[in-house]
Amino acid sequence: MSIGEFNQHLPTLNTPHLLLRKLREEDSKDYFAFASDPRVVQHLRWGPRTSLADTRAYLQDVLAGYKSGIDGPWGIELTQTHQLIGAAHLMDIHPQHWNAEIGVVLHSGYWGQGLGSEALRAVLAVGFSIVGLERIQGLVITGNSPACRMLEKCGMTHEGLLRHYAWQKEQWCDSELYAILKAEFH
Ligand SMILES: CC(C)(COP(=O)(O)OP(=O)(O)OC[C@H]1O[C@@H](n2cnc3c(N)ncnc32)[C@H](O)[C@@H]1OP(=O)(O)O)[C@@H](O)C(=O)NCCC(=O)NCCS
Repeated sequence: MSIGEFNQHLPTLNTPHLLLRKLREEDSKDYFAFASDPRVVQHLRWGPRTSLADTRAYLQDVLAGYKSGIDGPWGIELTQTHQLIGAAHLMDIHPQHWNAEIGVVLHSGYWGQGLGSEALRAVLAVGFSIVGLERIQGLVITGNSPACRMLEKCGMTHEGLLRHYAWQKEQWCDSELYAILKAEFH
């Protein structure tokens, strides 16, 4: 399956507490609830989202990305309530090198319950088994300890510190590089 086809037909993933599925335009209110929170996006490249209209426009871009196959983020839904509480992403997929980068973001009301790790494990499993990747990496801004911990809990190895790797939120940020290889994922 090509990367384009994968993004077009993004698989729905079930975990014990979560459903990872394509984002929809109707998700804008729930998406805005976490993406507008400065605490949630503090260490991310994007955000905070400033309005529902801005969020709707973003989700329309996401839908266009599914259609063209250029990109394929998942929405994270809490199975019990069907509420959208976050998003996960297998991005920058390099087909010639069989590597990619992951990202996970959750509404702060759901932090610290193991849900981020649960979503990440599902994305790693698909990256290795369906996409056929050899290596998946995670880049975390230095100081984002919960994210580092989440990657470590999922078996990712800390490979180093990338100094001034990102110009983010008006400042140079160092990044912690984590990665896991196909043979290391159980
Ligand atoms: C990163 C994120 C998705 C983790 O979600 P989560 O559901 O809280 O993750 P988990 O509960 O699976 O794991 C978080 C771990 O960090 C730990 N933690 C929380 N705050 C911490 C802190 N200040 N210092 C160190 N560890 C911390 C938790 O205790 C937990 O570890 P444990 O299970 O060993 O106790 C969530 O914090 C988030 O959305 N952050 C903002 C977006 C972001 O930074 N994304 C990362 C990009 S890859």
